[in-house]
Amino acid sequence: MDLYNEDYLKHIGKSLHMAEKIILAYSGGLDTSVMVPWIKEKYGYDVITFTVDLGQGEDIQKIREKALKTGAVDAIAIDARNLFVDHFVFPALMAGAIYEGKYPLATALGRPLIAKLMVDAAREHNAKAVAHGCTGKGNDQVRFDVTFQTLAPDLKIVAPVREWSMTRPAALEYAKKHNIPVEAKPESPYSVDMNLFGRSVEAGVLEDPWDEPREDAYQWTADPRTAPNEPEYIEIEFAAGIPVGLNGSKMDGVPLIESLNQIAGKHGVGRIDHVENRLVGIKSREVYEAPAAVVLHEAHRELESLCLSKQAARFKTIVSQEYADLIYNGLWFSAFHQDLFAFVASNQRFVSGVVRVKLFKGKATIVGRKSEHSLYNKKLATYDEGSDYDQAAAQGFIKIHGLGQQTQARFQLLKGGRGFDLPGLTGGSDKR
Ligand code: ARG
Repeated sequence: MDLYNEDYLKHIGKSLHMAEKIILAYSGGLDTSVMVPWIKEKYGYDVITFTVDLGQGEDIQKIREKALKTGAVDAIAIDARNLFVDHFVFPALMAGAIYEGKYPLATALGRPLIAKLMVDAAREHNAKAVAHGCTGKGNDQVRFDVTFQTLAPDLKIVAPVREWSMTRPAALEYAKKHNIPVEAKPESPYSVDMNLFGRSVEAGVLEDPWDEPREDAYQWTADPRTAPNEPEYIEIEFAAGIPVGLNGSKMDGVPLIESLNQIAGKHGVGRIDHVENRLVGIKSREVYEAPAAVVLHEAHRELESLCLSKQAARFKTIVSQEYADLIYNGLWFSAFHQDLFAFVASNQRFVSGVVRVKLFKGKATIVGRKSEHSLYNKKLATYDEGSDYDQAAAQGFIKIHGLGQQTQARFQLLKGGRGFDLPGLTGGSDKR
């Protein structure tokens, strides 16, 4: 008999009741904690929890210990902050990806990385399934599932919250029954997701888009009213579209973003109130705090104004929008993304230099920019003496530039028309 025959080993495994394994995305909160025994009960899997540090400011080792106390057979905790910044945050920044002109995509950028790392863990531990705690109404389920499907179509996906109908009291009751430690601190009135690049806050009183967010929705940013009364100036250095320094010192991505969150947050910069279009057809009001993201995007765009040609900058705005949609819609691991990034990387090769930003009472204002690749030519632009610009050449250029429009107007008049009417409402009160 072949003792290493796979069917034979499977048969032995089954008869010894060796359970298959599942990798669960685990935050340590009530829902994902309840999931540990629930998945075991309902599906029979041995649960391995998976917790990632993306800079959300939580102690992942503590969360890991909690998972083991909650009944996980194993618990994985990894620090992926550098991966997150280098391979997700900075490409998105280079691309200028901001969803619907407002949301710098912190949560949306984190999901494909977490899902990818879970797939790696599933392979390493020979797990047959993966699980997450997303609801069936949001974008995050899409981002997780699409990534799993793309990278590992053989893995079964379990999404307990999509299936169960547990209310919070029921979850608390279930936790008590299974000896799951529940935090004593009162329940947050919001649903919050955090990583280095921003904090996403929704639900509760925010669900009325007419109501101004209360101060308790914000944790990373000062109320501009109590922010310092003096402005603070900072300088951000970029190399080929990537932030590489702050205030004259070179800095790696993670500490640079952390410092910017601190400094800009202190001045109340980075608050965003957005009614957004979810992929699943729902409009949703979400409040974001993203001090570093807001400052970096503003500074980066401003440096581009110096370093990109007119055509390159304009075409880039189309790419930025596609890029943002792709991230928001969970299509990170796609060939189309590779194509877009190829353009972005090439487009960014001259975007190097320094931007000076003034932070004051909730606003980040760009007040200076310089670059060795600057296309700004003072000799051409100046109104002072000594300009290289040939003003006489303008005359001929303008003649040609307006020729089409001039021809058309002549033609209209010849036909007895009135020329071109002013666009807009008829019957204005001014006498013509
Ligand atoms: N609306 C954001 C997105 O789809 C954030 C989602 C998570 N937000 C939350 N508060 N839990 O990317």
